[in-house]
Amino acid sequence: MAEEFKICTGSKEERYKLLFAEAEAMLRDESDEIASMANLAAMIDQTFGFWWTGFYRVLGEELVLGPFQGPVACTRIGYGRGVCGTAWREEQTIIVEDVEKFPGHIACSSLSRSEIVVPVWRDKTICAVLDIDSEHLATFDSTDREWLEKIVALLK
Ligand code: SME
Repeated sequence: MAEEFKICTGSKEERYKLLFAEAEAMLRDESDEIASMANLAAMIDQTFGFWWTGFYRVLGEELVLGPFQGPVACTRIGYGRGVCGTAWREEQTIIVEDVEKFPGHIACSSLSRSEIVVPVWRDKTICAVLDIDSEHLATFDSTDREWLEKIVALLK
């Protein structure tokens, strides 16, 4: 990326709009998945300052921790386990308004209160999930889902 990453301080919609444009420019010339995930996690973190933002990659029968921003997190999550493993099994984005009400939620941090997990698709298969945690309740809504699904689709 030639230019410095710009951070928008407007509405959620405005922030995602700029984030998407910058992510598109950044990923256009990069073919390495890890490098792209690392910068995407950093861009999302710099834009919104969520508690934890990162990727878990599908490796065999498990999700394995990938590039992230935030506190130390659990390393491996089984298929169908926690919010991440459930999003993988159900093949869809999951928004959790209150993690204490999600059966089987895996608490990597006791400060996490709400969460969104977005599958990353490659060749009609889920190859990873994007997981974002907030220290506030009900942080994520359909705006986050729509934009984050568009952003992770850039990883193809
Ligand atoms: N809460 C997730 C585990 C990953 S951490 O939040 C980073 C889950 O239930 O799958």
